[in-house]
Formats: sequence, structure tokens, C-alpha cells
Amino acid sequence: MEKPQGTGDRFQQETKYERERLGEGRIDWTSRPLLYKEYPEARKIRLPPPGTPVLPSFAEILSRRRSVREYSPRPIPLEDISFLLWASSGLQRVEDGHAFRTVPSAGALYPVDTYVIAHRVEGVEPGVYHYGVRDHLLEEVASGDFRGDLVRAALFQEFCSEASAAFVWTAVFPRAKWKYRQRAYRYVYLDAGHIAQNLALAAVGLGLGTCQVGAFFDDEMNTLLGVDGVEESVLYLSAVGHPR
Ligand SMILES: Cc1cc2nc3c(=O)[nH]c(=O)nc-3n(C[C@H](O)[C@H](O)[C@H](O)COP(=O)(O)O)c2cc1C
Repeated sequence: MEKPQGTGDRFQQETKYERERLGEGRIDWTSRPLLYKEYPEARKIRLPPPGTPVLPSFAEILSRRRSVREYSPRPIPLEDISFLLWASSGLQRVEDGHAFRTVPSAGALYPVDTYVIAHRVEGVEPGVYHYGVRDHLLEEVASGDFRGDLVRAALFQEFCSEASAAFVWTAVFPRAKWKYRQRAYRYVYLDAGHIAQNLALAAVGLGLGTCQVGAFFDDEMNTLLGVDGVEESVLYLSAVGHPR
């Protein structure tokens, strides 16, 4: 068998669970990281309740979902953004005092945070916003037109700025590493996949389109959101808008 050479090969090998090493290392319950990142000083935009919009059947949604790369300039109503955020990462139930979400997450630690780069969202100034999961609101990270920065950071994929918004997902690594150590780096990507798929299907339900984007310049995308790329780093993003 070929010996693993690259970083990715080593990552796969070195993050394996092995029977004889599984019990190594204890979880330090005194250093449990916070489950929610919040921007206490930020301007907040309250979101309408996500509600229960009338959607096509699940089979219909599955048969319609595809990556959309051509968008109309029509703005997205704030109600739709609210539903999309809830469907992809919102709180869903409380069990034994722990708040669970609409997506699964390893250990229910929810290390993936959502940012919305709004270009044309009704009632929202263009800018970068962080989704405050606990209170279902948007926190303003930066205001302004970031379409150019987004397109450049996304390897010049123009559709990212033609869509009315982009959902950008970061991993807040300490939240998952606290329990899973290096294996957390596998789980954050799996979590992000669940989130992105929920977004894609919910968007189809609302008559919107998405295109997931994994190709971007990491440092540029991190800078756009104001995250350091070490403790928190962009994993994935999705354009969202009305298909043309
Ligand atoms: C992890 C991942 C990364 C992707 N990155 C990009 C991307 O950077 N640009 C793009 O146009 N599409 C991207 N896509 C979309 C795929 O090209 C698309 O899902 C695939 O061609 C299948 O087509 P469909 O989504 O229309 O069914 C990505 C999809 C995934 C799952």
C-alpha cells in the first residue's frame, strides 16, 4: 500500500480512533468552552419568527434541488432569511436543559457558526452579520457592500455576488476540540455538510436557489468575517438567491 505523504493523508491516519488508544485523555469539565459566540456590542437585527411556511412535498424538494449559479436581483424577504437560518442551524428543542438544533452535531456541541453576507435582503443594510442562534437574531459585524471582497475571496466566482446573500460557515474549533481533540477536525466538516444541505433543501422549499462553495482563499474569507483563521476559520459557504 502507498505510504501516506501529504497533510491530508496524515490527517486521515492521525485522527483515526484506535481500540487500544480510545480511552486516552480525560475531558476537563471545568474548561468547557461556550456553546455560543456572541457580539454583545453589535447592532442587532431581530428576525421574524421562522414560522411554518407552506412548502412543496419533500420528494418534490429533493427532485428540484440543484446548484444554482444564475440569480435574479430580486431581494430576499427577511422572513425567508429567518426560516433559512432556523432550518440550517436554529434551536429546535430543549432536553435536560440542553438546547438542540434542527441539524445533528457531534456531541451536540454545535461548533459551526453562521454568518450572512447580505447584498439584497429586505430590511437589512448590506453588510456582514453573525447569526445569534440563542436569540434568533443577526448581529452586525461590518456594514457596507462586500460583493467585491466576497467574489475575490471565492476565487472570482461571480455568482457569489449576483446572489442576494451568502451564508458563510465557520468552525469555532475549541468548542469541539474540548471533547474530541484532533478528531474534532473531522466532525466540524460533517456538521457543516448537514447545515448546508438543510439550507439547500429549505431554500428550494421557498422557491430560492443555492450553490455550495468550497473553493475560496481561506485567509481572505476569514478576514472578510473578522475571524482569526486559527481558533475560528471558514469551512464552507453558500450563495442564496432567486434563481434567474
Ligand atoms: C463540498 C462542495 C464544494 C463545492 N464547491 C463549489 C464551488 O466552489 N463552486 C461551484 O460552482 N460549485 C461548487 N459545488 C457544487 C457542485 O459543483 C455541485 O453540487 C455538483 O456539480 C452537483 O451538481 P448539483 O448540486 O446541481 O446537483 C460544491 C459542492 C460541494 C458539495
